[in-house]
Amino acid sequence: SRKGFVIAVDGPAASGKGTIARALAKHFGLPHMDTGLLYRAVALKIWRWGGDPNIEFEALRACDNLGFDPDDEELRSEPISRIASKISSYASVRDALLQRQRDFAAQEGGAVLDGRDIGTVIAPEADVKLFVTASAEVRAQRRVRELLERGMPGHYDDVLLDIRARDERDATREIAPLLQAQDADLLDTSDLTAEQAIAEAIRLVEHKLANA
Ligand code: CDP
Ligand code: CDP
Repeated sequence: SRKGFVIAVDGPAASGKGTIARALAKHFGLPHMDTGLLYRAVALKIWRWGGDPNIEFEALRACDNLGFDPDDEELRSEPISRIASKISSYASVRDALLQRQRDFAAQEGGAVLDGRDIGTVIAPEADVKLFVTASAEVRAQRRVRELLERGMPGHYDDVLLDIRARDERDATREIAPLLQAQDADLLDTSDLTAEQAIAEAIRLVEHKLANA
């Protein structure tokens, strides 16, 4: 086995990429970064300021001194998801968050990162790239269950609409759109439990490393 490899995990909202990335990090003993949290932290800051996410320079200002508590439940709320999706389309915001992610990916010993543009922009040289998907309906069901578990409101129809709107925005934005890297392995989790998806991801990574 080898040391110091980088695993890039990308995919749309609630595809299961975070669950898979965390499990891979644990299995291979690598540090993990959920890059969506960076965009969510910027969104939460604007929300708390009462700022306007439609104004790019306000979003950029929120990137300064970006500290956040990863366990803050508010980061995962639907209003914050919506604002995060909006502000992640700004080139200036993506630039401001770029180096932090690149540095994490470049650390000695390797890393696992999950997001939308890890395999394409953040770590194009990653040793393993996974593109995780699931149908929009399955992803909406998962997100509703997750919100319920956290005691937050969420109605299936609204969440499905939100997921579709975010998919559309993530896939069509000009900078770093969500797209499967040419050299990424596709993992459709629609019909898989989280445990099955994790087992399949580990198998894909081991296969890639064995053939590298
Ligand atoms: O968990 P979920 O997929 O719903 O969202 P997330 O990964 O936490 O990301 C929140 C928002 O940040 C998404 O709507 C993306 O538009 C954006 N994002 C991005 O543009 N690039 C990344 N590498 C990660 C997230
Ligand atoms: O990070 P992302 O938004 O892509 O999704 P996640 O937070 O990893 O997963 C969303 C929810 O779906 C979590 O509650 C998982 O337990 C659940 N789930 C999954 O991740 N994978 C499956 N194959 C089935 C369910």
